[in-house]
This record gives sequence, C-alpha cells and structure tokens, in this order.
Amino acid sequence: MLAAIHGAAFPPAEHWDEAAIAAQLTLPGGFSLLDPGGGMVLGRIAADEAEILALAVLPERRRVGRGRTLLAAAEQHVAAAGGRVVFLEVSQANEAARALYAAAGYREVGRRNRYYPDGADALVLARSLRGATAA
Ligand SMILES: CC(C)(COP(=O)(O)OP(=O)(O)OC[C@H]1O[C@@H](n2cnc3c(N)ncnc32)[C@H](O)[C@@H]1OP(=O)(O)O)[C@@H](O)C(=O)NCCC(=O)NCCS
Repeated sequence: MLAAIHGAAFPPAEHWDEAAIAAQLTLPGGFSLLDPGGGMVLGRIAADEAEILALAVLPERRRVGRGRTLLAAAEQHVAAAGGRVVFLEVSQANEAARALYAAAGYREVGRRNRYYPDGADALVLARSLRGATAA
C-alpha cells in the first residue's frame, strides 16, 4: 500500500518500490504512517533529529488536508520519540509541497544546487518542534 501510493504520487524515476520502502523501515528509527484514504509518510528519527523521507497523497485524493494531516501526525510521532527538529528536502519546482511545508512552519535552512534529475535545486527545510507539542 505504501509503495502503491508512493508510485502513484511520484514520477517513475523517483518511485520507491516495496523493497526500497522496507529497507528504509528496517533502518534504526525508521517509521511510516498510512492514511488508508490514500496517503503515506515515511521518516526516520536519529537522536533528537528526524527526516521526512517521503510524503505522498494519491493525485485524486489531494487538496482535502491529507498531506497536512499526515505531516502533523509524523511530527507528533517524532516528538513522542524525543525528536526536536524535523528536516526534509523538497524540489524548488514542487510548488504544492513547498506551499504545504511553508504553511506548516518549515523554513529553508540549506540548498543543494541542481540536486534533482530535472536540474531543480533541492531546498533543505526544517521545523523546530520545541514548544509545538506543549500541553
Ligand atoms: C504535496 C502533497 C503531499 C500535498 O498533499 P495534499 O493532501 O494535497 O495536501 P493538503 O490538502 O493537506 O494541503 C495543505 C496545504 O498545502 C498547500 N497546497 C497543497 N497542494 C497545493 C497545490 N497544488 N498548490 C498550492 N498549494 C498547495 C495549501 O496551502 C494547502 O492548504 P489549502 O488546501 O487549505 O489551501 C501532494 O501534492 C503530493 O503527494 N505530491 C506528490 C508527492 C510530493 O511532491 N511530495 C512532497 C515531497 S517529498
């Protein structure tokens, strides 16, 4: 299911099959969350830092809050595990994801020039969870 959603959401060159996703999940701190309505998020926690490795929603299920909800759930998972900051990479050309992350409080902390096959830069974004989960 995770691989099916990832495959439908990303271009073929960026598709992770079940083996690739399983490999990520066997690494220490690896986690995934599934929205059975058609979304998935994959991440990894290392000490007090975490990385969102993939966030995907089926094309026909977008713009109803699934991505935002999955990201928030991943952040809660990270915070519960002791994570304090979340990092991720997004293509400069990915306007939908950039808008989602900006609205969620992510800020640019770095850039990898011409990182993607289409020549787009990767933006490295981060959000501190400090205080975000305070009761
Ligand atoms: C990025 C992605 C996960 C967003 O999922 P989604 O369920 O459609 O997102 P949401 O409905 O939760 O949107 C939350 C906010 O993000 C922004 N946003 C999402 N899609 C947008 C778009 N196409 N254009 C502009 N803003 C967008 C909006 O601010 C939106 O809030 P609003 O609908 O109230 O205006 C989805 O487009 C996707 O799977 N894309 C392909 C994979 C990908 O690029 N993943 C991210 C990189 S790892």
